[in-house]
Amino acid sequence: MLKTKQLTLLDDLGNQSEDWTFTGASTRELTHCYHDYPARMIPQVAGKLLDMFVAVDATLLFDPYCGTGTSLVEGLIRGMHVVGTDLNPLARLIAQAKTDTPDLAQIDNQISKFNRFVLRSKSHVIAEAPMIEGISRLEFWFKPYVVEKLAELKRFIDGIPDDSVRLFFRIAFSETVRESSNTRNEEFKLYRYDVERLKKFNPDVFEIMVGKLKRNRAGLQKYLAIMHNFKHPPTANVYGFNTVTDIPSHLVAPASVDIVVTSPPYGDSHTTVAYGQYSRLSAAWLGLQEPDKVDSKLMGGAVQKKVHKFQCVPLDNALEAICQMDEKRAMEVAAFYNDLSKSISHVATVVKPGGYACYVVGNRKVKGIMLPTDASIRCFFENHDFEYIDTFHRSIPNKRMPLRNSPTNAAGVVENTMLQEHIVVMRRKIPRTLREKGKTSSRAKTAQRRV
Ligand SMILES: C[S@@+](CC[C@H](N)C(=O)[O-])C[C@H]1O[C@@H](n2cnc3c(N)ncnc32)[C@H](O)[C@@H]1O
Repeated sequence: MLKTKQLTLLDDLGNQSEDWTFTGASTRELTHCYHDYPARMIPQVAGKLLDMFVAVDATLLFDPYCGTGTSLVEGLIRGMHVVGTDLNPLARLIAQAKTDTPDLAQIDNQISKFNRFVLRSKSHVIAEAPMIEGISRLEFWFKPYVVEKLAELKRFIDGIPDDSVRLFFRIAFSETVRESSNTRNEEFKLYRYDVERLKKFNPDVFEIMVGKLKRNRAGLQKYLAIMHNFKHPPTANVYGFNTVTDIPSHLVAPASVDIVVTSPPYGDSHTTVAYGQYSRLSAAWLGLQEPDKVDSKLMGGAVQKKVHKFQCVPLDNALEAICQMDEKRAMEVAAFYNDLSKSISHVATVVKPGGYACYVVGNRKVKGIMLPTDASIRCFFENHDFEYIDTFHRSIPNKRMPLRNSPTNAAGVVENTMLQEHIVVMRRKIPRTLREKGKTSSRAKTAQRRV
């Protein structure tokens, strides 16, 4: 319903491309308010890409690194069916919740029950601390009274009969776990508060949960107001397959996707953003599988024995320069690009001829050498019959991301490495035979629209 016209002339792009910063825009509208996450894409970027490149009759969006599902939500409100995948189970759970359409009356009913439960349980004390699989030192990460309150919350949530309502509560619980833990909330890695700060840290667990439910309910109401306008609501599917190995054709068929809108990781989890560490405490409380093993499964997590050529001059030059300083580091970096190129080789097959792939990336420095992730994405797609459309540049005003990591990997050495995002847009070439047919059908479509 919010769909706009597809741009057909590349010349038109210049007029559309000026402002990608969206300074001052709220990035937490609709269900985008549900949960924080490292290096989230801002909804405005996904939305603008869809408005620029999606044809009126486009039906399917795919996000191969969907995280919390920002682009999925933006696709859905434009009436597209959406499919996302992510290896981090917590990200998947958030994406599922954000794209779900629970019944608001049932949510309200459960929130009322929850408020009564909070009043009743003020004096309640649990005899025994629970065992939470995946957190060996529970008392290190949570104060004892916090553990009790979280256990009470969990029991309440586990007793909610409706799946969608329970999912809505689980997401609010996940942020409550994070905010009431002894971790420094401003960091994505797991660091405990220092002793002084810990003394003063006495979170009101129930109050946090009440606040999250209220905020998320307001976002959901606005989201539902949009989604209920669809006569045939579009569908959302969130999976956990790894595009580095393959894309199961029964989940995403070859040449079926109109547009890919995604933001891959900036590098391997260990030296860039540790998605697994960020998610670990919540994931363990929620009973998600192996919360401590996520980071090693993500892109670039596997060790590589050699730095091979990628047939991409800017990337090969950068790797060569790093290799001369530190071969081991060059191999670690190459492992990430190896995974990225394999993933793109699979993603390329599911995009329709004439369909788009939009990748939002940051270029980081390693050993003082700028790694050209934007140019690499262009090369990798060009190797699979895609043509380059454009790269839009976006300065990052206040995103929580590793702006100041250590490109030398030396302790205490901090440098600004990413202040810009690059939005690389590629299009799958249309074979000549299809082009000939398309001329007739697009003339027919234009005529239909006029009618
Ligand atoms: C930059 S974040 C995506 C954020 C997302 N656009 C959002 O707005 O929430 C990158 C994501 O890639 C995921 N990831 C890393 N390697 C992956 C892989 N091989 N397959 C699927 N997801 C992967 C991480 O778990 C992380 O959620």
